[in-house]
Amino acid sequence: MQDEKSLRLGFVGVRNIGLNHLRKALDLPGVAVAAVADTDPQRVAAALELVPGGKARGYDSAAALFAAPDVDAVVLALPNHLHAPLSIEAMQKGKDVLVEKPMAVNSAEARDMIRVRDETGQQLMVGMNQRFNAYNVAARKMIAAGVIGEVQQCRTRWLRDRTGLWGGARGAWCLTPEKSGGGPLMDLGIHKLDQALYLAGVWPTVEQIAGFVTTGIGRQEAAAHGAVYEIEDYACGLVRFEGGLVLTVEASYFCNLPGEVQDTTILGTEGAMLLAKGKGTLLKRTADALESVPLEPDPETATSCVEHFCRVLQGREPLIPTPEVGLQGLEIVEGIYAAAKK
Ligand SMILES: NC(=O)c1ccc[n+]([C@@H]2O[C@H](COP(=O)([O-])OP(=O)(O)OC[C@H]3O[C@@H](n4cnc5c(N)ncnc54)[C@H](O)[C@@H]3O)[C@@H](O)[C@H]2O)c1
Repeated sequence: MQDEKSLRLGFVGVRNIGLNHLRKALDLPGVAVAAVADTDPQRVAAALELVPGGKARGYDSAAALFAAPDVDAVVLALPNHLHAPLSIEAMQKGKDVLVEKPMAVNSAEARDMIRVRDETGQQLMVGMNQRFNAYNVAARKMIAAGVIGEVQQCRTRWLRDRTGLWGGARGAWCLTPEKSGGGPLMDLGIHKLDQALYLAGVWPTVEQIAGFVTTGIGRQEAAAHGAVYEIEDYACGLVRFEGGLVLTVEASYFCNLPGEVQDTTILGTEGAMLLAKGKGTLLKRTADALESVPLEPDPETATSCVEHFCRVLQGREPLIPTPEVGLQGLEIVEGIYAAAKK
């Protein structure tokens, strides 16, 4: 829908996930795709073709788009090292911001973003999309209602096998720590951490972190592909929170398994919640058995980050993935990397 009353969105970085966000925005009521920007002119042209009626404008820089008075809010899907500077610039230009995860390459930058959010009064949302998965939301509601008792452990992992690493499917920036902030833990693990702690329903104080990484396969394979790989192949973290909750997280770009493994288990004193891609199961302990009940997806959940962002800006619901949530995830990732270095 593109009319004068629409919320007018600008999209900066329109390749993989940026185009996904743009496509989803096209279906939202009261939302107009007003502008796109990318330093690659071919990406701009391809994105503009998706917008019906030629109603969006293209820019070759984020700054030019931020200067446009007819853009209310921006969606930033950029290499990670650009998240903080361009979110800050956008907020200072009066735009509300949805920025992809991780919200920054380190927690110091994330704190700067929160400070500018407070100074400018603009909305700042982080693209933690696990919170808009209808199975996660259904599971969260049941856990909050005490169905599995007191949550004691979370186990979560996302193990991929080389997906998009070579051949340019993803920007090469994601293989260098200065631009990515880290490897699969920063990329995939941060989503799983967010999912597990969202399901557990707490973001308590961290008491202790152990962490380990492996390296080697990526560096060896990169050379054969004319690429440079400076991040970990695999990371695992073990976190103990105040109150006793224990969390384990694993993330990998090299698992040598068919497809990928992505699952999360929340263990409580009276049962467990198992979440895998596109499904969820409640395990409920009774006196003599462990009953298994498939979860129904929650019907009221926003289906995407961009839908939630628009609902927030339209005053229809409060912001769920706040930058504070993004910061805490980054702090845990940093803690795991720091522990692994010791
Ligand atoms: N939420 C998710 O599930 C999910 C999935 C994939 C990626 N991501 C995140 O989204 C972000 C982008 O990932 P991607 O895979 O789409 O990256 P990508 O490399 O495919 O695309 C980045 C785009 O940004 C453009 N760009 C680079 N510098 C720019 C600048 N200064 N101004 C304007 N445009 C610029 C590039 O030309 C490119 O088109 C990353 O932070 C990544 O972690 C999130």
